[in-house]
Amino acid sequence: MLVPTSGAFSERQADVAERLGKTVDRIDYEWGEAVKPEDIHDALENEEYDAVATVMNETSTGVRNPIEAIGDLLGDYPDTYFVVDAISCLGGDRIDIEGHNIDCIFTSTQKAFAMPPGLAVCTVSEAAYERELETDSASWYGGFRRCLDYYDRKGQTHSTPAIPLMLAYREQMKHMLEEGHEARDRRHREMAEYARGWAREHFDTFPEEGYESQTVTCVENTRDVDVAATVEAVSEEYDMVFSSGYGRLSEASFRIGHMGEHTVESIRALTDAIEDVAGL
Ligand SMILES: Cc1ncc(COP(=O)(O)O)c(C=O)c1O
Repeated sequence: MLVPTSGAFSERQADVAERLGKTVDRIDYEWGEAVKPEDIHDALENEEYDAVATVMNETSTGVRNPIEAIGDLLGDYPDTYFVVDAISCLGGDRIDIEGHNIDCIFTSTQKAFAMPPGLAVCTVSEAAYERELETDSASWYGGFRRCLDYYDRKGQTHSTPAIPLMLAYREQMKHMLEEGHEARDRRHREMAEYARGWAREHFDTFPEEGYESQTVTCVENTRDVDVAATVEAVSEEYDMVFSSGYGRLSEASFRIGHMGEHTVESIRALTDAIEDVAGL
């Protein structure tokens, strides 16, 4: 597998693959940088890979990777499958899955679907599914074959399902479809534009320019604000949540999530609270 790493979650993706016994080549980027399609192209010219696995939205750095361009170039490598971790953006950042050759894309319900955690949602292409059928190695819980086969035969999941969450998922899917792909994408884009504008007015944005996330803004702490204390005070005084930077970026940056059911107004209420607490 080829895994470009540019933050905590892409590093985790490489780690997970290695723990599953895969041979992994990494392309390492600085945290905050985006994956470059031409680097993937160069790697594919030098080596054959079964899969390229990429994080669409690097939640640790607020970078939105150019998944569309990577998928487009993978169209020339039909034996290399494209696996995308879209955990912190699917439902808040539109992507044409089949149009960009994505074989498997997965997310979790607790991010842009605005639901409790506990369900993973993914799609698999016919070709990738066929490849799984050829192997014995698919995991009991993670494999597609067992899920789909059991569902086809019995109309059930193959392990005990989280029924309350599935019912909540059905409701939320109705709600998301009513809002519509375009309107949902627009609302998230407007929130991202607002958050980025605010970040640049008071601080700076952390990600490489042109690759900022549509669902989480990572703000570079250029004013040396005490991030941990501000997070705590905003929570206590305003009952609102934002996050310190991820891992080693914890004081160097902070992150504002703008996904799910949020609106520009609710994000503005948060930034007003941060301004108040931090004395901006
Ligand atoms: C991009 C990305 N991948 C993976 C994960 C891990 O998800 P979980 O906490 O459900 O293991 C997260 C969680 O924030 C994420 O943002």
